[in-house]
Amino acid sequence: MIKEAIIGRQIIRLETVDSTNEHLKRHADLSDEGTVVIADRQTEGRGRRGRTWIDHPGKSLLFSFLLHPKADQAQLLLNMMWPAVAVAEALAKFGTDTFVKWPNDLLIGGRKVGGVLAETIISGDSARMVIGIGLNLNQTLSDFPQYLTVKAGSVFSQTGQMLGREEALNSILEQLNAFYLSFQQKGAFFVQQKWMQKCCHINKTVTVLTAKEPVHGVFTSIDEQGFALINNQENAHRITNFSHLLLEEELCS
Ligand code: BTN
Repeated sequence: MIKEAIIGRQIIRLETVDSTNEHLKRHADLSDEGTVVIADRQTEGRGRRGRTWIDHPGKSLLFSFLLHPKADQAQLLLNMMWPAVAVAEALAKFGTDTFVKWPNDLLIGGRKVGGVLAETIISGDSARMVIGIGLNLNQTLSDFPQYLTVKAGSVFSQTGQMLGREEALNSILEQLNAFYLSFQQKGAFFVQQKWMQKCCHINKTVTVLTAKEPVHGVFTSIDEQGFALINNQENAHRITNFSHLLLEEELCS
């Protein structure tokens, strides 16, 4: 662990919890920055956009950590994105090619192996952020319910490599700390660059399902706030909410 480690200086281990995000939100006032809550299983695991996060005890890594970021809107959004890149870099240390899909999905060989649910609590000038990470480590494809079998995967299903939860957690915490420190020292540009290096669909044609209408075009980059820049013949679009990004099947394979 690096000397300035903040994330993981306190780790709360639970067997079963409704959701590690909910647990940390309930205790956010009394918890130090960097507190991690990790659980073997969640009874109400949540994903982005109101979805359920399915877990498999012993095969899933499920944890959340608390940040005290600046209550600056631009930074809050980037705080939802850099943790996914840190996880991808941690997995690279095990020889695994993990990519990010905008804004913060984790993919190996075109299948989603993990994701990040970031929730912000703002009161006055202060902000608390709970960042939940779900990573499928050792599932086989048949472990997933049928509606997920086309898209979901695990590190094991995609690489044949079994990864222990503690081993994965330690490596991820190390990268999370390194990223958090660099983000604070170097600013938004650091996250923008790192995120783009790990993204599997830069300069590829994508469709984003926004509240108004689908936007179809070439995903050129993200801006300094993490928003998606998409060009098509008619327009240059800046997608300012984390809408649903659809990819052609083979794009991130
Ligand atoms: C996504 O939809 O991609 C985000 C999934 C985030 C799941 C993790 S598991 C640990 C934490 N607790 C939750 O209830 N959700 C996050």
